[in-house]
Amino acid sequence: MGTNTAEMGVKIRTFRPSDTRRIRNVLIEGLYSNIDPAFFVGVRRPSVIGAVVAWTAFMYYWTLSLLSAITVFVALLFIYYNSLLIAAYFLTKGPLFDDVQDVQRNYMKPRRNFWVAEADNGQVVGTIAITLKSLDKPANERADDVAWLRRMAVSENYRRQGIAKRLVETAIRFCRRNKYRRIELITTEVQLPAKALYEKMGFRCVNTWARRQYGFVLWTFTLVYDMQQDSTYH
Ligand SMILES: CC(C)(COP(=O)(O)OP(=O)(O)OC[C@H]1O[C@@H](n2cnc3c(N)ncnc32)[C@H](O)[C@@H]1OP(=O)(O)O)[C@@H](O)C(=O)NCCC(=O)NCCS
Repeated sequence: MGTNTAEMGVKIRTFRPSDTRRIRNVLIEGLYSNIDPAFFVGVRRPSVIGAVVAWTAFMYYWTLSLLSAITVFVALLFIYYNSLLIAAYFLTKGPLFDDVQDVQRNYMKPRRNFWVAEADNGQVVGTIAITLKSLDKPANERADDVAWLRRMAVSENYRRQGIAKRLVETAIRFCRRNKYRRIELITTEVQLPAKALYEKMGFRCVNTWARRQYGFVLWTFTLVYDMQQDSTYH
């Protein structure tokens, strides 16, 4: 079921039950590494700019003190950043990663799989999964045509070494062997490295839409890899 490659001291292999805790940690690390981009995306929103400017101006008008106005400005940005950190913390305590608590039951079935990247010290440093799209959300087409790529993450210390690329290649080859017509995934405006990675590997963005989640609006991209059109990975 799995593919094994060994380069650069990191090998890609199929999930083992002993990986469970580390998989969750890699995904949590991935979530936290999206906080800074989420902050910069957020502070460019007109509503956030408006609120910060209005409160800063109000403080200056009220106190006639530049120092007070600057203090309010910095405090608001500090509160905004920390609210993202708190939201991420509660996300990790919620059901967000429930599927990886039991990878065996949720992924290790025909035409689905979960792979990890294992460093030469035995540590899991990357993850990726393929499942059926219809299991995640209803599709208008035949359920077994479309693969759903999920759970892509690489530990921060191992990034920009081609590990995600190898994980995606492994997933694409698996999908080709399993006769999927295409692979779909979603990613967001705070995950631009991921979008760059997928597009470099032949995925096309077919839809951009606003997703409301936990009080935030996130521009979200649906990306597709068409098996018939792209035969790079066999
Ligand atoms: C996205 C992620 C998985 C990439 O992992 P990675 O192992 O560093 O990626 P790779 O080294 O295989 O990069 C392959 C290509 O992707 C693109 N890419 C990867 N990281 C990038 C970045 N920070 N900025 C721009 N392009 C990037 C580049 O084209 C790169 O090729 P290059 O290094 O030859 O320029 C990693 O940054 C991550 O875990 N992010 C947090 C979790 C996340 O957002 N997951 C995606 C869920 S959809």
